[in-house]
Amino acid sequence: MAKHVIVLSLVALSFGFLAFAFEPSPLQDFCVADSTSSARVNGQACKDPGSVTANDFSFSGLHLPGNTSNPNGSRVTPVSVAQLPGLNTLGISLVRIDYAPWGINPPHTHPRATEILTVIEGSLQVGFVTSNPNNAQITNTLHKGDVFVFPVGLVHFQRNVGTGNAVAIAALSSQNPGVITIANAVFGSKPEISGDILAKAFQMDKSVVNQLQAKF
Ligand SMILES: *[C@@H]1O[C@H](CO)[C@@H](O)[C@H](O)[C@H]1NC(C)=O
Ligand SMILES: *[C@@H]1O[C@H](CO)[C@@H](O)[C@H](O)[C@H]1NC(C)=O
Repeated sequence: MAKHVIVLSLVALSFGFLAFAFEPSPLQDFCVADSTSSARVNGQACKDPGSVTANDFSFSGLHLPGNTSNPNGSRVTPVSVAQLPGLNTLGISLVRIDYAPWGINPPHTHPRATEILTVIEGSLQVGFVTSNPNNAQITNTLHKGDVFVFPVGLVHFQRNVGTGNAVAIAALSSQNPGVITIANAVFGSKPEISGDILAKAFQMDKSVVNQLQAKF
């Protein structure tokens, strides 16, 4: 009996935790983001529903290729609450990702979202790494029409392994998933993380750390 109580309490606790960890269900039809409001809430304040129009729920231009002329050879075009105010409180958003041949979307994590990605054009190698201590890499090669999921918080990447450009569309389980690009966060923070710390953490010479810090 006592065992049952413990199991039930654990189940109840895990539900409680889920409710805290993810965007709560909306309590109204919509809450279109009011970018002019200075109210500080978890998300953005709601526009007066009387002044809401279809434009608040629309975004155009996702058919346009992103400019991949950069060192990554990729471009992410986001459609999150900043671009589409109607997404406020809804716990969902979208991106288009363009890749030049051999372009990468470098290792990064979304602190607030799981991501489900589908290849529209070309072929991608994708992967994510599980938490410590295993740090197992789960990787696959995707072709047009294939779908892959990156679980919330895990470090992941994509690389174009086809012969031409590649295009993917991904949905994310937050109106504002956030992105932490690992190299930029670690070697490009402002002010920078002390070179001694990074040299020890990465088990490499401080001069290499300095080079990396200069790049990012
Ligand atoms: C793409 O980006 C590069 C580098 O920023 C820039 O030189 C080029 O003009 C851009 N191309 C287009 C079509 O906007
Ligand atoms: C590569 O892409 C990431 C994520 O979009 C961006 O933060 C970073 O600045 C890019 N790096 C370079 C060298 O362009």
